[in-house]
Amino acid sequence: MSSSPPQYAGLTPSQLSTYGENGYLILPSFLSPLEITSLLDETHYLLSHIPLSTHPLTKFTTEDSSSSDSHVGDDYFLTSGDKIRFFFEEDAFSPTTGSLNRSPQQSINKIGHYIHELSPSFKTLTLNSTIASIAQGLGFRDPRVLQSMVICKQPGIGGAVPPHQDSEFLYTTPPSAVGFWIALEDAGIQNGGLRFAKGSHKRWPVRRRFVRKPDGSGTEFVTDWKGSKFPEGEEQEENSHETEEKEEEEYTLEEVAAGTLVLIHGNLLHKSEKNTSGKSRFIYTFHVIEGENVYDGQNWLQPAQGKGFSKLNDYAK
Ligand code: FE2
Repeated sequence: MSSSPPQYAGLTPSQLSTYGENGYLILPSFLSPLEITSLLDETHYLLSHIPLSTHPLTKFTTEDSSSSDSHVGDDYFLTSGDKIRFFFEEDAFSPTTGSLNRSPQQSINKIGHYIHELSPSFKTLTLNSTIASIAQGLGFRDPRVLQSMVICKQPGIGGAVPPHQDSEFLYTTPPSAVGFWIALEDAGIQNGGLRFAKGSHKRWPVRRRFVRKPDGSGTEFVTDWKGSKFPEGEEQEENSHETEEKEEEEYTLEEVAAGTLVLIHGNLLHKSEKNTSGKSRFIYTFHVIEGENVYDGQNWLQPAQGKGFSKLNDYAK
């Protein structure tokens, strides 16, 4: 079932100023209850059609993995940029038998990374004039959409996400990534809601990156990145952050209702805790980068041959 595009006025000067100050902006009631229902229906439809017979049972983790048997899983992940694929929670597998300890539907960490083109409902939500005007309001000249996913944060096992900056994953020169994060269910203290280090986008340069290994065997984090560290026009003094460790920043939990859109600056430190509650936390997220900036060839996600990333200007009014 396809929903209609969200109707939301472009960003106001006051909203832009909050975004500039905090590095994130919360827009409540971005989706109507009907749109939320439609998108949750679509998510459950996808979850009930996991192609298990051909699935390598890839677990998703943002930690570094170097196990030698992860190659098939790495391929499944690295070639997911133009597909709808399913990634499992690490805790969904029994440590002794290695088999799933619950239903496949309740074991999925996330579905990605091309939902914004391949799922009609999520395409309608993502590629439209409202999102285009928000991106233009944020200063994008040629906004391109990539890395869309539904993150399920399953009851009891939804894994914690350690502090990170989205530009570490989707690096351009200079950095330009912005996360669009939309709650499909209420997200708060019980079920692993988002936590932000307010204003950290102004003091934390991009110094670490998540890249493909040079031999193509998987991914890794590299540190001491020497390239551009802040978006164009936002250059800061080197070492302008106040603490040495990302964990030492003060994080603010933002509890949001289903239907809320949160915009997240690519340099902003954010994280979430494990979902220890009995309630899932389904969210949809995609990212926008500046198409006029150079997209880095080492990024984990590379555009599929001949496809490129989705051009929001094609949907602008
Ligand atoms: Fe993120």
